[in-house]
Amino acid sequence: MPRVDIHTHLLPAVDDGPESMDETVEMARIASADGTDVIHASPHQRDIMNNHSVEHLQNLIVEINGRLRSEAGPTQRVPRVILGMENHIEPELGEWFDKGIALPINGTKFILSEPPFTSYPPYMDKVLFDLQVRRLVPVIAHPERNSEFQKSPGKLRKLVESGMLVQITAGSLLGEFGSRAQKAAEFFLVHDLAHVAASDMHRSERVRVPQLSRAHQRAEELVGVERARMLFEDTPRNIIDGRDPVLSGSLPPLPSRRKWWWPFRGRTG
Ligand SMILES: [Fe+2]
Repeated sequence: MPRVDIHTHLLPAVDDGPESMDETVEMARIASADGTDVIHASPHQRDIMNNHSVEHLQNLIVEINGRLRSEAGPTQRVPRVILGMENHIEPELGEWFDKGIALPINGTKFILSEPPFTSYPPYMDKVLFDLQVRRLVPVIAHPERNSEFQKSPGKLRKLVESGMLVQITAGSLLGEFGSRAQKAAEFFLVHDLAHVAASDMHRSERVRVPQLSRAHQRAEELVGVERARMLFEDTPRNIIDGRDPVLSGSLPPLPSRRKWWWPFRGRTG
């Protein structure tokens, strides 16, 4: 089955993603050739709130899908682009959602929520709980890159046990963000604390590229074909369709799990 990418910076000139519509279309084609058939465009919420509008994003989505369809060759697969946002976890997030200036994934109950990279602010639990009160399901964006979750995976487990989902970034599995993020991503994966993998694509080349296939292979090596398929295909497809995913935690634990101890135990910083 093709893959679904739920975290991407694909839209042109709205955040730190591509600067032109041509690069946007090129990125979507690269993703499609690599086996992705749905791309969730998730620009940074704050950039849109401060400098653009949701209507501008909706117009871009129509334009991109139109170009991809009209410019595709007769045998080419055409990827579908859908809209949402990467929402920073800030005290006002619930209110921004109520006002329609923070968007969930493709109009579903799932909302991509990004913690800060270097802290676990005191308001974070309340903001996430406020989203759940609104019957939303937070999908925590790339916690393996956050130093607090690296130090204390128990904090992530608490969020998962309260019903949230976790998205890890494909490049983390490949070491693109350093060994700490890589080890954390592997640990989360092996311990069923990662539910979906996404590219977080920003540009057509170098890091955070539009391809998922290499990371998918790496996940297969780590946790086997079935869990890897959940991570790259089944769970993200359920999310964009608004269905509750079947989670890997419902499978028997991995036999190799015991050899994976928390790699940062006893380390500070
Ligand atoms: Fe992102």
